[in-house]
Amino acid sequence: MSTHPRRLLLVHGPNLNLLGRREPGIYGTRTLTDIESWVRGEGASRGWEVECHQSNHEGVLLDILQERAPGSRGVILNAGALTHSSYALYDCLRALEVPVVEVHLSNIHARPEPFRHQSVTAPAALGVIAGLGPRGYLFAMEYLIDRDQ
Ligand code: DQA
Repeated sequence: MSTHPRRLLLVHGPNLNLLGRREPGIYGTRTLTDIESWVRGEGASRGWEVECHQSNHEGVLLDILQERAPGSRGVILNAGALTHSSYALYDCLRALEVPVVEVHLSNIHARPEPFRHQSVTAPAALGVIAGLGPRGYLFAMEYLIDRDQ
């Protein structure tokens, strides 16, 4: 049982700041701010803090994960397209000592672009949720909280 405060990180990668207006037929109409407030509120109702970050820059995401994950009790990560390409992110996740759940709003396996069918970061995660829209973040949070008790 961790001695850290009951805090989870919710981390979003490139282009996810555009949620709400970016391909709404695929990613839905909820903005990132809206999703973050919702997850934060659901976390608070369970007595947990959810610290939210987004960056379009791979190195900034690595810095955030390296600096903030060790003081947290889990990470919920939607790395956007870096999911499919970033070995640096894979290495970073492997080095973390806290559990990571990878979440995708869309079902990456059902998308038409073959490059989306592979996640290079998934092997470093505890599990992956894809295709359930914003509720995927909530399921990830509930799982991380339950396994921490
Ligand atoms: C995504 C899927 C990725 O393929 C894409 O590059 C994204 C969003 C999702 O949430 O469905 O930016 O991670």
